[in-house]
Amino acid sequence: MKIAIGCDHGGFELKNEIIKFLQSEKYEVKDFGTYSTDSCDYPDIAFPVAEAVAQKEFEFGILICGTGIGIGIAANKVPGIRAALCSDTFSAHATREHNNANILTMGQRVVGTGLALDIVNTFLSSKFEGDRHQKRIDKISEIEKKYSK
Ligand code: RB5
Repeated sequence: MKIAIGCDHGGFELKNEIIKFLQSEKYEVKDFGTYSTDSCDYPDIAFPVAEAVAQKEFEFGILICGTGIGIGIAANKVPGIRAALCSDTFSAHATREHNNANILTMGQRVVGTGLALDIVNTFLSSKFEGDRHQKRIDKISEIEKKYSK
C-alpha cells in the first residue's frame, strides 16, 4: 500500500517516527517534506499531498502539523479529499468506516508518539462500510461540484 506523508515544522519529529513505523510495516512511503524544523507554511505541504491522493497516486495520505488542524483545513480544499483529524483510535477507525477518510491528520503538539502510531495503524487497517455512508459522501461531492469552476 502506498502512503503519502507530509508535515510542517510543527510536525517534523512525529512525521519521522511515523515514516520509520510505516517502513517497518512494509508500507511504501513517499515523504513530501518538510525536511527540517525550519519554519514553513502548512498549505505548501498539504496541497501536493492532497493532490497526489486525490489523483489516486497514493491510497492514503498522512499530514502532521502542530495541531493537525491547519494542514487538514488546507488538504480539505482539494476536491475528493476527506482529511480527518484524529487524536484517538476510536475516531481513526470511525472516520475510515463512516467517512471513507483518505487523509489522516494529527497534531504533534497534541498526541504522543505511541498514541500517534496506534492511530496510524488503526486508520490504515480499518475499512469503509459503504451503504448508508456512501450516500452522505455523495452529498459532500455534490457540494464540491457546486463550488468548482
Ligand atoms: C505552526 O506554528 C502551527 O501553527 C501549525 O503547525 C499548525 O498547528 C496549524 O494549524
